[in-house]
Amino acid sequence: MQDLERIVQEAVALFASISDPAGLEQAKARYLGKTGSLTEAMKALGKLPSEQRREAGRLVNEAKDAIESGLNERRAAIANAKLEGRLAQEALDVTLPGRGASRGALHPATRTLERIERLFRSIGFEAADGPEIESDFHNFTALNQPEHHPARSMHDTFYLKGEGQNVLLRTHTSPIQVRYMQAHRERYKDQASMPEIRIIAPGRVYRVDSDATHSPMFHQVEGLWIGESVSFADLKGVLTLFLRRFFEDDSIRTRFRPSFFPFTEPSAEVDMSCVFCGGDGCRVCSHTGWLEIAGSGQVHPNVLRHCGIDSERYIGFAFGMGPDRLTMLRYGINDLRLFYDGDLRFLSQFA
Ligand code: PHE
Repeated sequence: MQDLERIVQEAVALFASISDPAGLEQAKARYLGKTGSLTEAMKALGKLPSEQRREAGRLVNEAKDAIESGLNERRAAIANAKLEGRLAQEALDVTLPGRGASRGALHPATRTLERIERLFRSIGFEAADGPEIESDFHNFTALNQPEHHPARSMHDTFYLKGEGQNVLLRTHTSPIQVRYMQAHRERYKDQASMPEIRIIAPGRVYRVDSDATHSPMFHQVEGLWIGESVSFADLKGVLTLFLRRFFEDDSIRTRFRPSFFPFTEPSAEVDMSCVFCGGDGCRVCSHTGWLEIAGSGQVHPNVLRHCGIDSERYIGFAFGMGPDRLTMLRYGINDLRLFYDGDLRFLSQFA
């Protein structure tokens, strides 16, 4: 029975040297399999004289138990080592700083619109809104540009099939003037007089145009001030104040150049002294010292009439600014297309 002890020792030593489950099962077969050494020992029992058989059987069983428990211990140890390995590998270092979520930010064009709105609100203007898909009436006719008016051809745009009326992507924010005046008139129709209209209307507009300084979709900010005694001097004062606040530069000057818009009479182009050279002339202002910033004028009586407002009693001005131009000047950007490419390397600079 010396043999059995040796087999057990050998088996346990072999198990200890194995560290993968499949190898362990193969090793088991060497002792407990069909032709395993312990199995052989059991078979040999039958050949023993019966008086020895009992004792021998007990010893063989003991050896078998010893091998099995050695096997089980090793199985558990291998499984445990595997688990420990995984735990170590997948360990989470809770002391590391978090990755955090990157914060979104407003688009530079939106920042400018909000800035404009804020500045105008501070001097008593309210923000108004209107649809981007607009009727031919609001975009042109009510603004004193009847069908076949030559000024319409300067506003080529995308025409859509509407129900019963012509609709298009609005070419300017001026139709918001019309909508607002109509609604205002309606609201105060039973009263002897209506309160002044003072609005700012930022929004997207569309034209067939595309190069470094023009995009088929761009922004405008409309301004409108209607009352019983609103003058061109008020217009100049409001715009000059606004530009000085917007660029944080009190030396900015403005000038008006005669111009034409069908919905204003008289009309003027508004220029401001160049924010880069202060008016001396540089590349940005094409060496003129001036930058064109808005179209403006006194609201044409026909427009007031189209909106049901008494043009003998009420008077006022309107202007339309290009805020994208203001954004480019404020941030020193020279290509408008960068705004709409959606390139985060550009946009994240404004975060
Ligand atoms: N709507 C005009 C344009 O887009 C600008 C403008 C607005 C001019 C208001 C005068 C008054 O060109």
